[in-house]
Amino acid sequence: MAFNIEQLRREFPALNQQVNNRPLIYFDNAATTQKPKVVIERILEYYARENSNIHRGAHYLSQKATEAYEEARSTVQLFINAHFNHEIIFTRGTTEAINLVAHSFFKKFVKKGDEIIISAMEHHSNIVPWQIACEEFGAKLKVIPMDDRGVLDMKAYQKLLTGKTRLVAVTHVSNALGTINPVKEITKLAHDNGSAVLIDGAQALSHMKVDVQDLDCDFYCFSGHKLYGPMGVGVLYGKEEWLNQMPPYQGGGEMIKEVTFEKTTFNELPFKFEAGTPNVGDVLGMEAAIRFISYLRIDEIAAHENRLLAYGMKRLQELDNIRFVGTAPEKTSVISFVFNDIHPYDTGTILDKMGIAVRTGHHCAQPVMDHFEVPGTVRVSFGVYNSRAEIDQLMEALIKVREMFA
Ligand code: ALA
Repeated sequence: MAFNIEQLRREFPALNQQVNNRPLIYFDNAATTQKPKVVIERILEYYARENSNIHRGAHYLSQKATEAYEEARSTVQLFINAHFNHEIIFTRGTTEAINLVAHSFFKKFVKKGDEIIISAMEHHSNIVPWQIACEEFGAKLKVIPMDDRGVLDMKAYQKLLTGKTRLVAVTHVSNALGTINPVKEITKLAHDNGSAVLIDGAQALSHMKVDVQDLDCDFYCFSGHKLYGPMGVGVLYGKEEWLNQMPPYQGGGEMIKEVTFEKTTFNELPFKFEAGTPNVGDVLGMEAAIRFISYLRIDEIAAHENRLLAYGMKRLQELDNIRFVGTAPEKTSVISFVFNDIHPYDTGTILDKMGIAVRTGHHCAQPVMDHFEVPGTVRVSFGVYNSRAEIDQLMEALIKVREMFA
Protein backbone atom coordinates (compact mmCIF):
# COMPACT_ATOMS: atom_id res chain seq x y z
CA MET A 1 0.00 0.00 0.00
CA ALA A 2 1.41 3.41 -0.93
CA PHE A 3 0.46 6.22 1.45
CA ASN A 4 -1.95 8.90 0.46
CA ILE A 5 0.62 11.55 1.27
CA GLU A 6 -1.70 14.53 0.81
CA GLN A 7 -4.21 13.04 3.24
CA LEU A 8 -1.48 12.06 5.71
CA ARG A 9 0.07 15.53 5.63
CA ARG A 10 -3.21 17.08 6.74
CA GLU A 11 -2.73 15.24 10.05
CA PHE A 12 0.41 17.29 10.74
CA PRO A 13 -0.48 20.95 11.38
CA ALA A 14 3.15 22.12 11.36
CA LEU A 15 3.61 20.94 7.78
CA ASN A 16 0.82 23.14 6.50
CA GLN A 17 2.55 26.50 6.75
CA GLN A 18 4.66 28.85 4.69
CA VAL A 19 8.28 29.46 5.59
CA ASN A 20 9.95 32.41 3.90
CA ASN A 21 6.89 32.68 1.65
CA ARG A 22 7.22 29.11 0.39
CA PRO A 23 5.32 26.00 1.48
CA LEU A 24 7.48 24.33 4.15
CA ILE A 25 9.47 21.30 3.05
CA TYR A 26 10.58 19.57 6.22
CA PHE A 27 13.64 17.38 5.75
CA ASP A 28 15.00 17.54 9.31
CA ASN A 29 13.28 14.45 10.67
CA ALA A 30 16.43 12.97 12.17
CA ALA A 31 16.60 15.98 14.51
CA THR A 32 12.92 15.74 15.38
CA THR A 33 9.75 14.67 13.62
CA GLN A 34 6.60 16.78 13.31
CA LYS A 35 3.62 15.76 15.44
CA PRO A 36 0.27 14.47 14.17
CA LYS A 37 -2.97 15.89 15.54
CA VAL A 38 -3.67 12.73 17.55
CA VAL A 39 -0.53 13.38 19.59
CA ILE A 40 -1.23 17.08 20.14
CA GLU A 41 -4.86 16.34 21.01
CA ARG A 42 -3.92 13.57 23.44
CA ILE A 43 -1.70 15.93 25.41
CA LEU A 44 -4.40 18.61 25.33
CA GLU A 45 -7.02 16.11 26.50
CA TYR A 46 -4.82 15.00 29.40
CA TYR A 47 -4.30 18.54 30.69
CA ALA A 48 -7.90 19.54 29.99
CA ARG A 49 -9.64 16.55 31.60
CA GLU A 50 -7.31 14.08 33.31
CA ASN A 51 -4.48 16.06 34.88
CA SER A 52 -3.58 14.65 38.25
CA ASN A 53 -0.57 13.26 40.04
CA ILE A 54 -0.32 9.52 39.68
CA HIS A 55 0.18 6.50 41.95
CA ARG A 56 -0.71 8.52 45.03
CA GLY A 57 -4.26 9.78 45.04
CA ALA A 58 -7.38 7.89 46.01
CA HIS A 59 -9.51 10.27 43.94
CA TYR A 60 -11.05 9.76 40.51
CA LEU A 61 -8.65 11.85 38.41
CA SER A 62 -5.58 10.36 40.03
CA GLN A 63 -6.80 6.85 39.35
CA LYS A 64 -7.68 7.72 35.77
CA ALA A 65 -4.27 9.30 35.12
CA THR A 66 -2.50 6.36 36.81
CA GLU A 67 -4.38 3.86 34.67
CA ALA A 68 -3.61 5.79 31.47
CA TYR A 69 0.09 6.07 32.40
CA GLU A 70 0.42 2.37 33.18
CA GLU A 71 -1.49 1.45 30.02
CA ALA A 72 1.03 3.53 28.06
CA ARG A 73 3.77 1.42 29.62
CA SER A 74 2.07 -1.70 28.27
CA THR A 75 1.69 -0.08 24.83
CA VAL A 76 5.45 0.51 24.76
CA GLN A 77 6.08 -3.04 25.98
CA LEU A 78 4.04 -4.45 23.08
CA PHE A 79 5.59 -2.05 20.59
CA ILE A 80 9.13 -3.28 21.22
CA ASN A 81 8.07 -6.74 22.43
CA ALA A 82 9.57 -6.53 25.92
CA HIS A 83 8.90 -9.56 28.09
CA PHE A 84 7.53 -7.60 31.08
CA ASN A 85 5.99 -4.15 31.29
CA HIS A 86 8.13 -3.34 34.35
CA GLU A 87 11.14 -3.54 32.00
CA ILE A 88 9.92 -0.24 30.51
CA ILE A 89 11.27 2.81 32.38
CA PHE A 90 10.03 6.24 31.33
CA THR A 91 12.81 8.81 31.07
CA ARG A 92 13.30 12.32 29.67
CA GLY A 93 14.67 10.81 26.47
CA THR A 94 17.44 8.65 25.05
CA THR A 95 20.13 10.79 26.66
CA GLU A 96 18.72 10.31 30.15
CA ALA A 97 18.22 6.59 29.52
CA ILE A 98 21.90 6.17 28.59
CA ASN A 99 23.03 8.28 31.54
CA LEU A 100 20.91 6.13 33.84
CA VAL A 101 22.64 2.95 32.67
CA ALA A 102 26.08 4.56 32.67
CA HIS A 103 25.53 5.59 36.29
CA SER A 104 23.76 2.56 37.75
CA PHE A 105 25.40 -0.23 35.75
CA PHE A 106 28.85 1.15 36.48
CA LYS A 107 28.14 1.49 40.19
CA LYS A 108 27.22 -2.16 40.47
CA PHE A 109 29.21 -3.99 37.81
CA VAL A 110 32.28 -1.99 36.71
CA LYS A 111 35.60 -1.78 38.50
CA LYS A 112 38.98 -0.27 37.81
CA GLY A 113 40.62 -1.67 34.67
CA ASP A 114 37.33 -2.88 33.13
CA GLU A 115 36.46 -1.94 29.57
CA ILE A 116 33.46 -0.48 27.74
CA ILE A 117 33.13 -0.61 23.94
CA ILE A 118 31.34 2.00 21.85
CA SER A 119 31.55 2.63 18.10
CA ALA A 120 33.09 5.30 15.89
CA MET A 121 29.67 6.52 14.74
CA GLU A 122 28.06 7.32 18.09
CA HIS A 123 26.08 10.43 18.88
CA HIS A 124 27.64 12.44 21.72
CA SER A 125 24.94 11.09 24.04
CA ASN A 126 26.38 7.59 23.60
CA ILE A 127 29.97 8.75 24.11
CA VAL A 128 30.07 11.33 26.87
CA PRO A 129 28.12 9.44 29.60
CA TRP A 130 30.55 6.52 29.19
CA GLN A 131 33.57 8.83 29.26
CA ILE A 132 32.36 10.41 32.49
CA ALA A 133 31.68 7.02 34.09
CA CYS A 134 34.98 5.53 32.86
CA GLU A 135 36.87 8.43 34.35
CA GLU A 136 35.08 8.11 37.68
CA PHE A 137 35.51 4.34 37.95
CA GLY A 138 38.94 3.96 36.29
CA ALA A 139 37.58 1.99 33.31
CA LYS A 140 38.74 2.18 29.71
CA LEU A 141 36.69 3.22 26.66
CA LYS A 142 37.41 1.37 23.41
CA VAL A 143 36.01 2.28 20.00
CA ILE A 144 34.96 0.00 17.11
CA PRO A 145 36.35 1.61 13.94
CA MET A 146 34.34 2.15 10.74
CA ASP A 147 35.31 2.29 7.08
CA ASP A 148 34.84 5.11 4.59
CA ARG A 149 31.30 4.06 3.77
CA GLY A 150 30.34 4.32 7.45
CA VAL A 151 30.24 0.56 8.07
CA LEU A 152 31.54 -0.86 11.35
CA ASP A 153 34.58 -3.13 11.21
CA MET A 154 33.21 -6.31 12.77
CA LYS A 155 36.57 -8.09 12.78
CA ALA A 156 38.07 -5.22 14.75
CA TYR A 157 35.08 -5.38 17.09
CA GLN A 158 35.71 -9.05 17.83
CA LYS A 159 39.32 -8.26 18.66
CA LEU A 160 38.25 -5.48 21.06
CA LEU A 161 36.11 -7.89 23.11
CA THR A 162 38.16 -9.19 26.04
CA GLY A 163 37.57 -10.70 29.45
CA LYS A 164 37.47 -7.15 30.78
CA THR A 165 34.61 -5.95 28.53
CA ARG A 166 31.65 -5.25 30.79
CA LEU A 167 29.38 -3.54 28.28
CA VAL A 168 29.06 -2.71 24.57
CA ALA A 169 27.04 0.42 23.70
CA VAL A 170 26.23 1.01 20.03
CA THR A 171 23.71 2.90 17.98
CA HIS A 172 21.12 0.96 16.02
CA VAL A 173 21.02 3.61 13.27
CA SER A 174 23.56 6.42 12.91
CA ASN A 175 21.90 9.85 13.07
CA ALA A 176 24.68 11.41 10.99
CA LEU A 177 25.14 8.69 8.34
CA GLY A 178 21.97 6.63 8.34
CA THR A 179 23.94 3.36 8.67
CA ILE A 180 21.93 0.48 10.14
CA ASN A 181 24.26 -1.50 12.37
CA PRO A 182 24.08 -5.30 12.73
CA VAL A 183 23.00 -4.99 16.36
CA LYS A 184 21.77 -8.57 16.68
CA GLU A 185 25.18 -9.90 15.66
CA ILE A 186 26.93 -7.33 17.85
CA THR A 187 24.81 -8.48 20.78
CA LYS A 188 25.45 -12.18 20.14
CA LEU A 189 29.22 -11.65 20.02
CA ALA A 190 29.11 -9.57 23.21
CA HIS A 191 27.02 -12.18 25.01
CA ASP A 192 29.35 -14.99 23.90
CA ASN A 193 32.04 -12.90 25.57
CA GLY A 194 30.00 -12.43 28.75
CA SER A 195 29.41 -8.69 28.11
CA ALA A 196 26.14 -6.75 28.31
CA VAL A 197 24.78 -4.66 25.42
CA LEU A 198 23.04 -1.29 25.26
CA ILE A 199 21.52 -0.13 21.98
CA ASP A 200 20.79 3.52 21.25
CA GLY A 201 17.59 3.24 19.24
CA ALA A 202 16.76 6.96 18.99
CA GLN A 203 17.19 6.97 15.24
CA ALA A 204 15.82 3.51 14.54
CA LEU A 205 12.37 3.04 15.98
CA SER A 206 10.40 5.25 13.62
CA HIS A 207 11.99 3.53 10.62
CA MET A 208 11.94 -0.18 11.43
CA LYS A 209 10.33 -2.84 13.55
CA VAL A 210 12.28 -3.44 16.74
CA ASP A 211 11.88 -6.58 18.82
CA VAL A 212 14.08 -6.40 21.91
CA GLN A 213 13.64 -10.09 22.71
CA ASP A 214 14.72 -11.06 19.22
CA LEU A 215 17.73 -8.71 19.40
CA ASP A 216 18.36 -10.09 22.91
CA CYS A 217 19.97 -6.77 23.90
CA ASP A 218 20.17 -5.95 27.60
CA PHE A 219 19.17 -2.30 27.23
CA TYR A 220 17.43 -0.37 24.45
CA CYS A 221 16.89 3.41 24.59
CA PHE A 222 14.74 5.78 22.55
CA SER A 223 13.03 9.18 22.54
CA GLY A 224 9.43 10.12 21.88
CA HIS A 225 10.20 13.14 19.73
CA LYS A 226 11.94 11.22 16.94
CA LEU A 227 8.90 8.96 16.80
CA TYR A 228 6.28 11.64 15.97
CA GLY A 229 5.72 12.06 19.72
CA PRO A 230 6.53 14.89 22.14
CA MET A 231 9.91 16.13 23.33
CA GLY A 232 11.06 15.56 26.90
CA VAL A 233 10.03 11.91 27.13
CA GLY A 234 11.65 8.62 26.22
CA VAL A 235 12.20 5.05 27.28
CA LEU A 236 14.82 2.82 28.78
CA TYR A 237 14.10 -0.84 28.19
CA GLY A 238 16.22 -3.08 30.39
CA LYS A 239 16.10 -6.79 31.06
CA GLU A 240 14.57 -7.45 34.44
CA GLU A 241 17.61 -9.30 35.77
CA TRP A 242 19.87 -6.28 35.15
CA LEU A 243 17.43 -3.62 36.35
CA ASN A 244 16.72 -5.54 39.55
CA GLN A 245 20.39 -5.61 40.43
CA MET A 246 21.18 -2.01 39.48
CA PRO A 247 20.97 0.72 42.15
CA PRO A 248 18.60 3.69 41.64
CA TYR A 249 19.78 6.54 39.43
CA GLN A 250 17.99 9.38 41.21
CA GLY A 251 16.45 9.60 44.68
CA GLY A 252 13.10 11.16 45.48
CA GLY A 253 9.42 10.43 45.74
CA GLU A 254 7.88 7.36 44.08
CA MET A 255 11.12 5.35 43.93
CA ILE A 256 11.04 4.44 47.64
CA LYS A 257 9.31 1.78 49.71
CA GLU A 258 10.04 3.22 53.15
CA VAL A 259 12.02 6.24 54.27
CA THR A 260 13.42 6.95 57.71
CA PHE A 261 16.35 9.23 58.54
CA GLU A 262 18.39 6.11 59.26
CA LYS A 263 17.62 4.09 56.16
CA THR A 264 15.56 4.05 52.96
CA THR A 265 14.37 0.98 51.11
CA PHE A 266 13.63 1.20 47.40
CA ASN A 267 10.51 0.49 45.40
CA GLU A 268 10.27 -2.36 42.94
CA LEU A 269 10.57 -2.07 39.15
CA PRO A 270 9.82 0.08 37.27
CA PHE A 271 9.24 2.70 39.98
CA LYS A 272 12.74 2.33 41.44
CA PHE A 273 13.99 4.23 38.38
CA GLU A 274 11.22 6.83 38.13
CA ALA A 275 11.92 9.30 40.93
CA GLY A 276 9.62 12.31 41.23
CA THR A 277 6.42 13.23 39.43
CA PRO A 278 6.67 11.80 35.93
CA ASN A 279 5.90 13.53 32.66
CA VAL A 280 2.46 11.94 32.38
CA GLY A 281 1.09 14.17 29.60
CA ASP A 282 4.01 13.49 27.29
CA VAL A 283 4.05 9.77 28.07
CA LEU A 284 0.43 9.72 26.86
CA GLY A 285 1.41 11.79 23.82
CA MET A 286 4.18 9.29 23.05
CA GLU A 287 1.69 6.46 23.40
CA ALA A 288 -0.59 8.20 20.86
CA ALA A 289 2.40 8.47 18.49
CA ILE A 290 3.13 4.75 18.86
CA ARG A 291 -0.51 3.94 18.10
CA PHE A 292 -0.35 6.28 15.10
CA ILE A 293 2.70 4.66 13.53
CA SER A 294 1.44 1.18 14.39
CA TYR A 295 -1.77 2.05 12.53
CA LEU A 296 0.25 3.18 9.49
CA ARG A 297 2.36 0.04 9.87
CA ILE A 298 6.05 0.37 10.45
CA ASP A 299 6.98 -1.87 7.49
CA GLU A 300 4.95 0.41 5.17
CA ILE A 301 6.68 3.46 6.63
CA ALA A 302 10.08 1.81 6.09
CA ALA A 303 9.23 0.88 2.49
CA HIS A 304 8.07 4.44 1.74
CA GLU A 305 11.21 5.99 3.28
CA ASN A 306 13.49 3.54 1.49
CA ARG A 307 11.91 4.53 -1.83
CA LEU A 308 12.54 8.19 -0.95
CA LEU A 309 16.12 7.39 0.02
CA ALA A 310 16.81 5.59 -3.28
CA TYR A 311 15.16 8.36 -5.31
CA GLY A 312 16.94 11.11 -3.34
CA MET A 313 20.34 9.46 -3.83
CA LYS A 314 19.69 9.05 -7.55
CA ARG A 315 18.69 12.70 -7.97
CA LEU A 316 21.40 14.25 -5.81
CA GLN A 317 24.09 12.29 -7.66
CA GLU A 318 23.30 14.49 -10.67
CA LEU A 319 24.88 17.47 -8.87
CA ASP A 320 28.47 18.60 -9.46
CA ASN A 321 31.08 18.57 -6.73
CA ILE A 322 28.91 16.62 -4.31
CA ARG A 323 30.40 14.13 -1.84
CA PHE A 324 28.13 11.78 0.09
CA VAL A 325 29.08 11.13 3.70
CA GLY A 326 27.76 7.71 4.69
CA THR A 327 27.20 5.25 1.86
CA ALA A 328 26.67 2.02 3.80
CA PRO A 329 24.71 -0.63 1.88
CA GLU A 330 22.41 -0.98 4.88
CA LYS A 331 21.09 2.49 5.60
CA THR A 332 17.88 4.34 6.19
CA SER A 333 16.28 7.71 5.60
CA VAL A 334 19.35 9.96 5.85
CA ILE A 335 21.36 11.59 3.05
CA SER A 336 24.38 13.44 4.41
CA PHE A 337 26.51 15.33 1.91
CA VAL A 338 28.92 18.18 1.33
CA PHE A 339 29.65 20.26 -1.72
CA ASN A 340 33.43 20.35 -2.08
CA ASP A 341 33.31 24.08 -2.82
CA ILE A 342 30.46 25.34 -0.57
CA HIS A 343 30.31 25.37 3.23
CA PRO A 344 27.41 23.24 4.56
CA TYR A 345 26.15 26.18 6.59
CA ASP A 346 25.82 28.32 3.45
CA THR A 347 23.89 25.57 1.69
CA GLY A 348 21.55 25.16 4.66
CA THR A 349 20.92 28.89 4.96
CA ILE A 350 20.03 29.29 1.30
CA LEU A 351 17.75 26.23 1.40
CA ASP A 352 15.98 27.76 4.40
CA LYS A 353 15.36 30.92 2.40
CA MET A 354 13.55 28.67 -0.06
CA GLY A 355 11.42 27.10 2.67
CA ILE A 356 13.44 23.87 2.92
CA ALA A 357 14.50 22.70 6.39
CA VAL A 358 17.63 20.54 6.56
CA ARG A 359 20.19 20.24 9.31
CA THR A 360 23.75 21.39 8.83
CA GLY A 361 26.70 20.95 11.17
CA HIS A 362 28.23 18.05 13.06
CA HIS A 363 24.88 16.53 14.12
CA CYS A 364 26.17 15.96 17.69
CA ALA A 365 28.64 13.45 16.24
CA GLN A 366 31.94 15.31 16.01
CA PRO A 367 34.10 12.14 15.84
CA VAL A 368 32.13 11.10 12.73
CA MET A 369 32.95 14.44 11.10
CA ASP A 370 36.62 14.03 12.07
CA HIS A 371 36.64 10.57 10.47
CA PHE A 372 35.37 11.97 7.17
CA GLU A 373 37.51 15.12 7.54
CA VAL A 374 34.61 17.52 7.07
CA PRO A 375 33.54 20.41 9.33
CA GLY A 376 29.97 19.21 9.07
CA THR A 377 27.50 18.02 6.47
CA VAL A 378 24.16 18.98 5.00
CA ARG A 379 21.74 16.33 6.23
CA VAL A 380 18.46 15.57 4.49
CA SER A 381 16.40 13.16 6.58
CA PHE A 382 13.05 11.70 5.60
CA GLY A 383 9.85 11.07 7.50
CA VAL A 384 6.61 9.35 6.64
CA TYR A 385 5.03 12.53 5.20
CA ASN A 386 7.80 13.38 2.70
CA SER A 387 7.34 12.90 -1.03
CA ARG A 388 9.23 12.55 -4.31
CA ALA A 389 7.86 15.95 -5.35
CA GLU A 390 9.63 17.50 -2.36
CA ILE A 391 12.89 15.83 -3.41
CA ASP A 392 12.44 17.34 -6.89
CA GLN A 393 12.00 20.76 -5.27
CA LEU A 394 15.10 20.18 -3.16
CA MET A 395 17.00 19.37 -6.36
CA GLU A 396 15.88 22.62 -7.99
CA ALA A 397 16.95 24.51 -4.88
CA LEU A 398 20.35 22.80 -4.78
CA ILE A 399 20.92 23.63 -8.45
CA LYS A 400 20.26 27.28 -7.53
CA VAL A 401 22.71 27.02 -4.62
CA ARG A 402 25.36 25.74 -7.01
CA GLU A 403 24.64 28.51 -9.52
CA MET A 404 24.97 31.15 -6.78
CA PHE A 405 28.43 29.89 -5.85
CA ALA A 406 29.62 29.22 -9.44
N1 ALA B 1 20.39 13.97 17.61
C1 ALA B 1 19.60 14.85 16.83
C2 ALA B 1 20.09 14.98 15.41
O1 ALA B 1 20.65 14.06 14.89
C3 ALA B 1 19.32 16.14 17.46
O2 ALA B 1 19.89 15.99 14.79
